[in-house]
Amino acid sequence: MERRERLLEIAAHYDLPIVEDNPYGELRFEGEIPPSLRSMDKDGRVVFLGSFSKTFCPGLRLGWVNASPELLEKYIFVKQGSDLQTSSMAQRELNMFMDDYDLDKHIEKIKHVYKKRRDLMMETIKMSFLRKPNTLIQKVAYSLGLNCQNTSTQET
Ligand SMILES: Cc1ncc(COP(=O)(O)O)c(C=O)c1O
Repeated sequence: MERRERLLEIAAHYDLPIVEDNPYGELRFEGEIPPSLRSMDKDGRVVFLGSFSKTFCPGLRLGWVNASPELLEKYIFVKQGSDLQTSSMAQRELNMFMDDYDLDKHIEKIKHVYKKRRDLMMETIKMSFLRKPNTLIQKVAYSLGLNCQNTSTQET
């Protein structure tokens, strides 16, 4: 929270915009979802980018933008210049899903599934790979917060 406030202060000091690219924010497995920078943004400098790719369907490539009306106007202008518009059919499919089902409930459901997969992956990394010393996978595991010191010198 303090880091977020500090980032907004720095951006304000240098009068910089911030792009808050947050496709995974709703898939947090532990703890509370922290407030978005956009929700703390008092002077309209944050552009929040959300995605349905991780929560609904990757292939549709749908997302959303939340920004001040001034930034949004510029954003729409640039987007139309680059791709004319997002597929109407894909938007309609998502709209129908949201009419018929509760997206928040769906996200809660898939969070359990993804958490199970994440836990299994972490366990498998620990069991299968961490015995091999000085491998790239050990370094990756370390960056994932797995303690591999006890296993690093064991047999391969
Ligand atoms: C950090 C980050 N931002 C944006 C995206 C793009 O999401 P989308 O599938 O909605 O284009 C991804 C996709 O994996 C991502 O990892």
